[in-house]
Parts: sequence; structure tokens; C-alpha cells
Amino acid sequence: MLEQTYYDKADEIIESHGAKAASLIPIIQDIQTEYRYLPPELLSYVAGKLEISEAKAYSVATFYENFSFEPKGKYIIKVCDGTACHVRKSIPILERLYTELGLSKEKATTDDMMFTLETVSCLGACGLAPVLTVNDKVYPAMTPDAAAELVRELRGA
Ligand code: FES
Repeated sequence: MLEQTYYDKADEIIESHGAKAASLIPIIQDIQTEYRYLPPELLSYVAGKLEISEAKAYSVATFYENFSFEPKGKYIIKVCDGTACHVRKSIPILERLYTELGLSKEKATTDDMMFTLETVSCLGACGLAPVLTVNDKVYPAMTPDAAAELVRELRGA
């Protein structure tokens, strides 16, 4: 069960975009920005408010990969494993971060909800490879040591 404040926030966001079916994507994007994920309860709630079926809202949200139904950490680290980054050794960076954060392919978010670690196929910054991002800030020419240091800095922040 979500707290009432989540529904109040959703109402505010719905109001800012207008309660119409065409506003579904901007509304759920704003909800995801607010909470760093899209709580399934709020997706159902928004569908009701916009008078569209839950199934329809769900299929829209699952069609776009960047919607997540799982809570994510305060810092979302994305390690690029596109071709340019891969050949410049992105995997050792990823492995070092898994070790540093106690995460794995199966467990993407730390228990303290500080970090989520993901891979992406290309961040569009191949000239800066290997690249990772933290909450969309780009860190170029990374190394395993630099990535570990970055995590330590963020922990202290
Ligand atoms: S392959 Fe990593 S930014 Fe393009």
C-alpha cells in the first residue's frame, strides 16, 4: 500500500498535464522522475483518472523500456556496454562496481536504496568510451579504479 502522499502527488501531476488519455506518457514520466520508478498502484490510479483501461496503461508503460516498476536507488549507475565501450574494457568496470556495491546481474539495487547498477547498449558518447552515467551525468574514459572511487565519493555525499 502506498501512502496517501503518493496519490496526492499523482493528482498534482495529472492536473498539470490534464486528465486526458493523450497525457498518459507525460504523466507517468513525471511520476517516475519523482519516485525514480513507476509504482504499479499509481499506474492503475492514473488509468482510472484518465478513463483508460488498466491493461492499456500497463501495455503503454511496458512498451517503453525506461519505465521501471521496481524501486531504484538514489544513484542510478549505467555502465555502457555498447561496442565502443566494450572494446575499451567496460566489463571490468562493471565487475568492479558489482564487487564494490555487493550487486550482481540478479540484484541490481543495494539494500540501502543508494545505488542501482544497470548496463546500457550505447549512451551515444562513443568518442568518450568507456562511459558510465550516474543519474544521467556522463563520466568519460572510466577505469575500474575510477569507478570504485566515484562510488566512494557518492556514498560520502
Ligand atoms: S558504445 Fe558506449 S557510448 Fe556508445
